[in-house]
Amino acid sequence: MEHLIKLLEEYYKAPEIFQAGRYWKSYEDKIISEIGKADISKLRSGDYPIFGTFGYSESVYHYHPDMPFYQKSLKKLIRKYFITNKALLPYSLRLGDIREMAYTNCLSQGELANIRSIAEIETSTFGSPSDLFEIKGKKYTMQFLNFYIRLCFAQRFLKLKGDETIVELGSGSGFQVEVLKKVFPDLTILCFDLPYPLYLCEQYIDGSLGSHMVTGSAETLNWTDLTGVKKGNVHFLGNWKFPLLKNIKFDVFCNAASFGEMEPDIVRNYLNYVLDSCRQIYLLQSRKGKESTSKSGVVTPITFDDYNSMLTNFDLVKESDAFEAHRRMSQSGGYFQAVWRKESQK
Ligand SMILES: C[S@@+](CC[C@H](N)C(=O)[O-])C[C@H]1O[C@@H](n2cnc3c(N)ncnc32)[C@H](O)[C@@H]1O
Repeated sequence: MEHLIKLLEEYYKAPEIFQAGRYWKSYEDKIISEIGKADISKLRSGDYPIFGTFGYSESVYHYHPDMPFYQKSLKKLIRKYFITNKALLPYSLRLGDIREMAYTNCLSQGELANIRSIAEIETSTFGSPSDLFEIKGKKYTMQFLNFYIRLCFAQRFLKLKGDETIVELGSGSGFQVEVLKKVFPDLTILCFDLPYPLYLCEQYIDGSLGSHMVTGSAETLNWTDLTGVKKGNVHFLGNWKFPLLKNIKFDVFCNAASFGEMEPDIVRNYLNYVLDSCRQIYLLQSRKGKESTSKSGVVTPITFDDYNSMLTNFDLVKESDAFEAHRRMSQSGGYFQAVWRKESQK
C-alpha cells in the first residue's frame, strides 16, 4: 500500500484534466479501500466484485455467494416448475459447449488474422481465476479468449510484425497486455492508467509474465522523459505522465472500454499527446456512449461519430461491432471496435 499511496499523492498533485471524471470518481474510494484489504493472490477469484469495474470479473455466474436464501429458493422453484425440460439454456447448451465454441471461434479468428494460435498459448493462473478451464491441455478463462478475439480483429488491420511499441491508456486488468505479449513476445508496451488500477495491473503482469518483463511505476514515477523505455518490456506509468508521449514516436495507441467512461475534454486532452506521435489507433468503445443520468455515469456521453471527428489526420480503416469470444458485446446499446491509420501512412 505504501507504493499506492505515493502514486496517489502524485496523481492528486496533477492538473485537474488528469483527475478521473464523474463516472470513475464514484469508484475511486471504494476501490482504494478494497485494495487495502485484498489478497492479491485472489485477485481473479470473484471475492472482490469492485475490481470487476476494470476487468477482474472472471466469474461464470454473477450472483454473489452470499445471495439471500429467499433468492436461492426462488431460483430453485423457477427451475423446478417452469423450466420443465431442465435445460438451463436453449438447445440444451452446457457450459462446456459455450467454452468449446468460444475456443473454436478463437482458432478460426487466429487463422484469419494469421497470428499465433490460441492452441499455443494459455492464461496465467496468477490471481486464482474462478473461471479456469482446460482445452487440449492448455488453461483458459473466457476473459483470456475475449482479449484474444479483440487482438484478432485489430491485427487484421494493424498488421503488427511483432517488434512495435504500443501505448495503452486504461489498461485495467492487463489482460490485453498479457495476450499481446504471449502472441508477440518482442512488443514494447507502455501502460498508462489511474493509480489504483495501475497498482493492481502491474502486480498482475508481474505475476503472469514475470518481473524481468516489467518496468514498474516505482521506477517510472520520477521519469521526466521516456529515454528509460526498455525494448521488449511492459512499462507502467501513471496517467498524469501521458504528456511524456508528445516527444516520442510509437506505432499504435489503444484504448478499450475506457475513453467512454471519461468526459470529452479529458479524452481530447489525452489524444492531443498522441495524434502526432503514433501511426495507428485502435479503439473499442460503447457506440452510443456510456450511461448518463443527472446524478451518475458520464456527464456527456461520447459516440462513435465523436471519436471519428476527434481523430483528425487519421483515416478510418475498419469499424465493426465488437465481439467477445462467445457473443456480441451488447451492453448499453452495443460496442464498436475500429482501427484508424495516419493519413500520411497510406
Ligand atoms: C472498464 S475499464 C477497461 C479496462 C480494459 N481496457 C478493458 O478493456 O477491460 C476502464 C479503464 O479506464 C481507466 N480510466 C477511466 N478514467 C480514466 C482517466 N480519466 N484517465 C485514465 N484512465 C482512466 C480506468 O482506470 C480503467 O482502467
